[in-house]
Amino acid sequence: MSTLLVLNGPNLNLLGLREPGVYGAATLADVEALCRETAAALGHAAQCLQSNHEGALIDALHAASQRFGAGELLGVVMNPGAYTHTSVALHDAIKAVAPMPLIEVHISNVHAREAFRHHSYISPAAAGIVIGFGIDGYALAIRGLAAQAASKTTP
Ligand code: DQA
Repeated sequence: MSTLLVLNGPNLNLLGLREPGVYGAATLADVEALCRETAAALGHAAQCLQSNHEGALIDALHAASQRFGAGELLGVVMNPGAYTHTSVALHDAIKAVAPMPLIEVHISNVHAREAFRHHSYISPAAAGIVIGFGIDGYALAIRGLAAQAASKTTP
């Protein structure tokens, strides 16, 4: 069994209340329960963290990379929220902790929304991207991360 980290960025603590027409009715607690169930079904554990602060997310990535290096962590599933479209610092952090894999998730289809959401600083550094499947995207990302990890460890 391995652990994977699910990171949620700014305003995702307000899921369920925040623009339900865009993000749906599920709360962050629902998302985190889905992640734990999905990971458990694959024989893994999910640890979940949400922060509204860019630096705290970067610190979490640095700490995760230590655990990845020690063989304790499979990688990270992350919805960076609006930092997706603004944060060179998060881009650099993900590059800095390579080869730890990070799957980028967006609940909404950002490409069908405002132009400022079309660019991601995260995508060029991500091992995979899941966009527009609602909160099911987190489950898809966890499955993808686990499959990538298994394909790297299976001879
Ligand atoms: C989001 C999309 C971002 O553009 C937005 O700023 C969010 C949520 C999504 O999950 O669809 O906070 O990452």
